[in-house]
Amino acid sequence: MFSPQPRLRLYGMPGALVTVAKAYLTGSVNRGQDLQRLEAELLRYTGVNHAVTVSQCRYALHLLVKHLVKPGQKVILSPYTIHDVINMVIAAGAIPVFADIDKETCNISLEDARSLIDENTGAILITHFQGMACDAMAFRRLCDEHGIKLIEDCAQAFGAMTGNRLVGTVGHAGAYSFNRVKNVNSFYGGAIVTDDAELAARIRQEVGLLPPIQPRRLLKQIIYCAVRELLSVTPVFQLVTYPIVRFASLRGSRAANKVINTEEHPVRRDTLSEFLRCRMTQMQARIVIQQLDSVERSIERRSQIAEKYYQGLKNIRGLQLPPRRMDHSHIYLGYPIQVEDRDAFIRHMMRAGRDIAIQHCGNLADEKCFKSFHRDCPNARWVAQRVVLLPDHPKYSDREVQRTIAATRAYFETSENPLG
Ligand SMILES: Cc1ncc(COP(=O)(O)O)c(C=O)c1O
Repeated sequence: MFSPQPRLRLYGMPGALVTVAKAYLTGSVNRGQDLQRLEAELLRYTGVNHAVTVSQCRYALHLLVKHLVKPGQKVILSPYTIHDVINMVIAAGAIPVFADIDKETCNISLEDARSLIDENTGAILITHFQGMACDAMAFRRLCDEHGIKLIEDCAQAFGAMTGNRLVGTVGHAGAYSFNRVKNVNSFYGGAIVTDDAELAARIRQEVGLLPPIQPRRLLKQIIYCAVRELLSVTPVFQLVTYPIVRFASLRGSRAANKVINTEEHPVRRDTLSEFLRCRMTQMQARIVIQQLDSVERSIERRSQIAEKYYQGLKNIRGLQLPPRRMDHSHIYLGYPIQVEDRDAFIRHMMRAGRDIAIQHCGNLADEKCFKSFHRDCPNARWVAQRVVLLPDHPKYSDREVQRTIAATRAYFETSENPLG
């Protein structure tokens, strides 16, 4: 009974590790023209005119705010994201303004964003949550009406469509992430895409002056990913990893929670971390290029799993499912359901031998560290307490999906706490 597959598998493994080994053995971590090749591939993939690779997506967002918004101007954004996105805006000299989100999509509300625009607004930053594309065209029209910029945070949505365009290509600029938990994984990494030649040139110049990522930092991340992958291989996971995670989780261990919830203690930073001031290596670019061809395949597989979840879990009182989209406007980076008593639900699932976790983002509009930007965002508060991610990575088997559905149904058949 207690033999689940892990809720997370890193994308691009073990191929990425083979590329790493080759690069270290041949001394080609920073040799080659692969960053240029990757930028050319991104142009082909997205259809935009300019792509610039960067150390991380959060740094991309920082650069975009810095170059598109004047110091002291406001940036309207969702409070339901990682805390460092807010820090990137602050460090760029702008003022974050939280707009509430839509309860079903968990994305920033167009109407609330509209109501917040004033003469000091410089941009709207939209986040495509867990692969669910915002209506970027509607945001673009709103921004154009007011002569302000639209920035797209596509960290969780590489490959998602909004209308007939890829996310990242509708705003004045878009930012992608290739970090270890994304659907393209080069350990760290990101890219900016834009049709604005001057913006791209200024960012390229700034990034071009930076050194490649510190070898020790990159190596640490690679080793972490390799160990994590090893602990996720089926027999190891079932015999060692899961029993420990399950035991710790049911005992309410803080250490276990820390591993799961990286956003537990958000911190405000007014200046940019020196860590971010670096470039991707040529090796990381090679790793991204290797994975680009499988992006569509993995979207198809996750969409299939999402449909199975939908069919298996629809019409359960107290369970809110994500929007059902089969047109690539949701790439289901995870399958975010909403449950009223999330802790009770996780305990039930762990007892039933399932490996699942909460969505780690909180409602940043309520966080103490951002209290000078506090704004009442009731939907974000509601959602942030309820979202649980059901596993849907491409290696998650149909049998596992059915077991997760059965365990979820069992919870609601006995639960006293439906959402209503
Ligand atoms: C919504 C969102 N934005 C930005 C980022 C930052 O991406 P990166 O880790 O590449 O800096 C993340 C990372 O998880 C994210 O989830």
